[in-house]
Amino acid sequence: MTLRLALALAALAGTAAWAQAPSYPASYPEWAYAVPTPQNEATAPKDDGTLFTLPGATGKFTRSQISGAGRKPPADWYPGDHPAMPVLVAAGDPAGQITACAACHYPNGKGRPQNTNLAGLNATYLVRTMQEMKSGLRASSEPRKKNAQQMVDFAKAMTDAEMAETAAYYASLPPTVPVKVVETETVPELKSQDGMWLPVDGRPRQPIGNRIVEMPEDVHREQLRDPRANFIAYVPVGAVAKGKAASKNCAMCHGQNLEGRDAVPGIAGRSPSYLARQLHDFQTGARHGPLAAMMKPSVAKMTATDIVNITAYLASLPVKP
Ligand code: HEC
Ligand code: HEC
Repeated sequence: MTLRLALALAALAGTAAWAQAPSYPASYPEWAYAVPTPQNEATAPKDDGTLFTLPGATGKFTRSQISGAGRKPPADWYPGDHPAMPVLVAAGDPAGQITACAACHYPNGKGRPQNTNLAGLNATYLVRTMQEMKSGLRASSEPRKKNAQQMVDFAKAMTDAEMAETAAYYASLPPTVPVKVVETETVPELKSQDGMWLPVDGRPRQPIGNRIVEMPEDVHREQLRDPRANFIAYVPVGAVAKGKAASKNCAMCHGQNLEGRDAVPGIAGRSPSYLARQLHDFQTGARHGPLAAMMKPSVAKMTATDIVNITAYLASLPVKP
C-alpha cells in the first residue's frame, strides 16, 4: 500500500470513529468532554523547531520536547516547584507502555481539565482508583474520550509498587485550585482541541445556555503546558448558589469543606469538567467499584442542570493548603 493510500484510509477510519456518538442519557454533560474533531486537531500548533520559554523559567523547549513526543520525558518548566519526581512520573516506563504522568497531570499535579489535578489527593484513594481502572471497575462512559482509555491502559501496565510510588508523590504535593469560576450570560464561540475548549477569535459571543465552559486563561501558555497557568470556568448566572443548595449532603462523606476525608476524595476546587465526567460515570455505572456504590443515591436523580450547578459550586471552593 502506498503511504498516501494508507494515510487516506487512516483519515477515513478516524472520521468514522469520531462521528459515532453513542446515545446518551438526558443528563450527559457534553460540555465536559470537548471531544476532538479531525478538523480542529489539524489546526493545532505544530512543532516548527521554535524554542519557547515561559516567565520565570530557565529552560527552552520545542513543542515536541514540551509534550514528550517520541517517548522522551516531557519538559519540566519549573523544577523548583516540586520535589524530585519518581521515574514513572517524570519519564514513563522505558518499554513505552506508560507515558510520563507529568505529561498530562504535570510535575506539580495541577493537571488539566481533559485529565484531572492529583496534587494533595489521598494516596489510598489514588491507589484504589488506579486498581479499579486496572480491574475494569472504572472506565469512561464516553468511548470518544481516548485519553481516559489511555489512563486505563497505563493502570493495567502498572505494578502495585508503581501505583504506590506515584500516588505517594502526588498525594504529598500541596493542592492548588487550577480554575477560577466566573458567572456569565455569554461565552466566546468555541472549538475543541487537544481535549480542551478554545475560543475562536473574531466571532460574536454566544449565550452560555445550560453548560460550563472551561478554557485556558491564556491559550498560548496552556498550549506550552505551563503548569503555573490557570483555567477559567464560565458558568451560568446563579449556578454557584444553586449548586451550594444542592450539595448539602456531600459533606457527610467528602468532609466539612469537601476537601476529602480519608480515602473519600476531595471534590473542592477541582476542574468542573472532570467532576461532571465522574458524576456522569457514576450515573451510567461506568464507575462501579465497591465505593462507587456510596455515590449512587447522590447521583440517581441528578439532571443536566444539577450537574452544571453542583460542579460550578465545587470548582468555586478553596482547598486547604
Ligand atoms: C495521556 C494522558 C495521561 C497520562 C500520561 C496519565 N494520565 Fe492519569 N488520567 C488521565 C485522564 C484523562 C484522567 C481522567 C479520566 C476521566 O476524566 O474520566 C486521569 C485520571 C487519573 C487518576 C484518577 C484521579 C481521581 O481523582 O480519581 C489517577 C489516580 C491518575 N490519573 C494517575 C496517573 C498516574 C499515576 C500516571 C502516570 C503513571 C498518569 N495518571 C498518567 C490522563 C493521563
Ligand atoms: C455516602 C457517602 C457519599 C456522599 C453522600 C457523596 N459522596 Fe461523592 N464519593 C463518595 C465515595 C466513597 C467516592 C469514591 C468513589 C470511588 O472510589 O469510586 C466518591 C467520589 C466522588 C467523586 C469522584 C471524585 C474523583 O476524584 O474522581 C465526585 C465528583 C463526587 N464523589 C461528588 C459528590 C457530590 C457532588 C456529592 C453530593 C451531591 C457527593 N459526592 C456525595 C462518597 C460519597
